Amino acid sequence: TASDKGTYPYYMLKEIDEQPNVMRKLSAKYLDQVGQPVITPALVEKLRDSDRIYIVGAGTSYHAGLVGKAQLEKLTGIPTEVHVASEFAYETPLLSEKPFFIFLSQSGETADSRQVLVNVNQKHLPSLTITNVANSTLSRESDFTLLLEAGPEISVASTKAYTAQIALEAILAKAVGEAKGVAAAQTFDLKGQLAVVAQGMQSIVDEKNEIDQIAQDYFVQANQAFYIGRGIDYTVSLEAALKLKEISYVHAEGFASGELKHGTIALIEPGTPVIGIITQAGTAGLTRSNLEETAARGAQTLSIVRQGLARPDDTFVIPDVDELLTPLLSVIPAQLLAYYTSLNKGLNVDLPRNLAKSVTVE
Ligand code: G6P
Repeated sequence: TASDKGTYPYYMLKEIDEQPNVMRKLSAKYLDQVGQPVITPALVEKLRDSDRIYIVGAGTSYHAGLVGKAQLEKLTGIPTEVHVASEFAYETPLLSEKPFFIFLSQSGETADSRQVLVNVNQKHLPSLTITNVANSTLSRESDFTLLLEAGPEISVASTKAYTAQIALEAILAKAVGEAKGVAAAQTFDLKGQLAVVAQGMQSIVDEKNEIDQIAQDYFVQANQAFYIGRGIDYTVSLEAALKLKEISYVHAEGFASGELKHGTIALIEPGTPVIGIITQAGTAGLTRSNLEETAARGAQTLSIVRQGLARPDDTFVIPDVDELLTPLLSVIPAQLLAYYTSLNKGLNVDLPRNLAKSVTVE
């Protein structure tokens, strides 16, 4: 069955491996033969007519929202804000005249997110929940729902829900952008790109042994690690660091690579792993110099780089894909690094200490 571990030692590895298939399922469900989005027209209209989008989520879902902001702004031209649910609930920012709320939640049950939705409903503002669980609380209480179709996610550390959320946000952004007549949305071959993503994910998960070795060489003994990047790569560095923290207990931080020199670089010690995520042509050179700055202070530098920007000594080279979709690929080596670091430390990968899959208290 879908919730059976099969021959996998842990659900997390199974769920990482399922990601190429989740991409194909989302593409088949939400994009038609010619690549046109299949999204309820009433939802597309509400979004098209809004003057600002507010994305709300917690943990990994919040990180998926940060990628969604880049996609929505580029493809729809609608300013988009992303908020941590627990902050938004009690420190509500000033709202625009025609706000639209998007709740991201794998479980659809996170109390922090629900509290925001309760406030939103009191104000009679329109909302969409993107979730993996049909009929979940957030799904029932919002105006619209889009399902992730990722299959049950059982491991506490979220993997396939993150990539499914990002793919679905892109589809939604294309639908709304087309409705607004935005050229970037009209010319975006999302169906073709998602096929490239699925293949690319497969090629990365097929290189597990190499990633296992890197985990053993640099991460199992580490007491801290840093992921750095700019723009969309910075948002992935937050998620990559969270994965490492939550299952391997290595203190990790995701950092905007340009901000490192303003303080945090003081933490770099000989051997500290620093992983640069480099997928955006406009900032690749800058992140590379920031990575070199850490190497000059003794860091063990590694890199996750998009093919077109790669150099011979890069650690992980991910296939080329549209720059709005690179998180779907750059996160995979990071998920596997976290997995193998936890596994080699002899920890229970699926059930990290102190954490719950779904947090139903504020
Ligand atoms: C918990 C889980 C995280 C998850 C977060 C939000 O803290 O351990 O993995 O990202 O909740 O969950 P949601 O179901 O709302 O996406």
